Amino acid sequence: MRGLLDDLLELSRSDSGILSISNEPISLNEKLVQISTLARNTIPRDFHLVLPKDKCLTAQADPAKFQQVLLDLIENANKYSPEGTPINIVLREEAEGPAIDVIDQGIGIPPEELDLVFERFQRASNAPHKTGSGLGLSLVKLFVEGMGGRIEVASRLGQGSQFTVHLRT
Ligand SMILES: Nc1ncnc2c1ncn2[C@@H]1O[C@H](COP(=O)(O)OP(=O)(O)OP(=O)(O)O)[C@@H](O)[C@H]1O
Ligand SMILES: [Mg+2]
Repeated sequence: MRGLLDDLLELSRSDSGILSISNEPISLNEKLVQISTLARNTIPRDFHLVLPKDKCLTAQADPAKFQQVLLDLIENANKYSPEGTPINIVLREEAEGPAIDVIDQGIGIPPEELDLVFERFQRASNAPHKTGSGLGLSLVKLFVEGMGGRIEVASRLGQGSQFTVHLRT
């Protein structure tokens, strides 16, 4: 309930033009290690963090909102996957900037509903009833775009999903 109220408050701040998203250089390696530790302490499943070898990537981001984005994506990966399957977080460098993948082996999203999931109050038709309100990803998109980045999803029904956050250096 607390989370739902926080989400609604952030959305109404955004609608009123008073949502503030800071942009400062953050160390993605460091931040992802912190977030993974938080997730491991709360989510009872295998959780793998893959960082680039011998390279520290930075991005322009709001540290608190970046953490919320990752935790929302991890919460979904956990909620929409059967017990015993792992969650992988991968930090990569692309030509346009750093990218972070959150990959699960869960229920997937029907292809014709892929674009819908970022809309407010939209849930895919295969989502178990009463497990969410359909707001998390609309905030994820709002925050990522507020940091000058973008979010992408690729999914196969019954096999798993991959959400990718692209940020600016
Ligand atoms: N990793 C995933 N695997 C399968 N379906 C997903 C995944 N992430 C999101 N979805 C689908 O997208 C919908 C929207 O996700 P979103 O996080 O916005 O809402 P929610 O999880 O239903 O509720 P909440 O507001 O508590 O986050 C979900 O209801 C689900 O149908
Ligand atoms: Mg959610």
